[in-house]
Amino acid sequence: MSAALAIEGVTISFGGVRAVRGVTLEIAAGERRVIIGPNGAGKTTLFNLIAGQLRPDEGRVMLFGVDVTHHRAHKRVRAGLARTFQISRLFPSLTVAENVSIATHGPVGFSPASFASPATANDLNERARELLETWGLAGERDEVVANIAHGNQRLLEIVMALATNPRVLLLDEPTAGLSSGERDLVSMRLRALSRELTVILTDHDMDVVFDIADQIAVLNEGELAAQGSPAAIRADRRVHELYFGGDE
Ligand SMILES: Nc1ncnc2c1ncn2[C@@H]1O[C@H](COP(=O)(O)OP(=O)(O)O)[C@@H](O)[C@H]1O
Ligand SMILES: [Mg+2]
Repeated sequence: MSAALAIEGVTISFGGVRAVRGVTLEIAAGERRVIIGPNGAGKTTLFNLIAGQLRPDEGRVMLFGVDVTHHRAHKRVRAGLARTFQISRLFPSLTVAENVSIATHGPVGFSPASFASPATANDLNERARELLETWGLAGERDEVVANIAHGNQRLLEIVMALATNPRVLLLDEPTAGLSSGERDLVSMRLRALSRELTVILTDHDMDVVFDIADQIAVLNEGELAAQGSPAAIRADRRVHELYFGGDE
């Protein structure tokens, strides 16, 4: 069976900076893969290469066995890839429900046809309602996004990604800026996601990382410095020196 996502020798430079250098990763369908590494390690750049915001100088990105290296981001969304951004991409002047509605219409486009079929619209609304319920945002569905708590805005970003009904979900620091209680909640909800979904995330919170990960990949200065099971990464002396500052 082919991997959900395979990244093969991917490299990209910005001017003189080689932000990602020859990274190869294979992520199985249903896996939870966590990518860690210090600030500037290349995690967000790697996500941009996977999701199509950037094209690599070298290497390939394969989604369910299909080479998507040169596909635009929206085509990758249609193929089942969804992501959240480290920097929020919400529509702050619209309501929670309107934001989710925009996300659910994303994969089928904004064509009049997608609104014309009541069956389709109901399906999408049903899914949006369920997601808002599951993620604890149902009570805020008619609130303007700018007025809801920061923690709920971060949850809404995840809901919007899930609303596209993805097969692969990329989450770039989903718990950044959250309280420890909110982080636990996100961690719990992510663990409860269907194993039909493949999840790739970055995070700096080690409790979240070790709660969620089946496998961990460590990036440093654009290179894959280590990868393995959470136990192997915990025990890896180089990872400690690199990422945990050499203590223990
Ligand atoms: N658009 C860009 N233009 C120039 N340099 C960039 C750009 N995006 C990222 N970089 C550089 O690439 C490196 C990796 O950044 P990034 O992928 O954001 O790391 P991380 O997400 O791990 O903190 C950094 O040195 C950063 O300054
Ligand atoms: Mg980043």
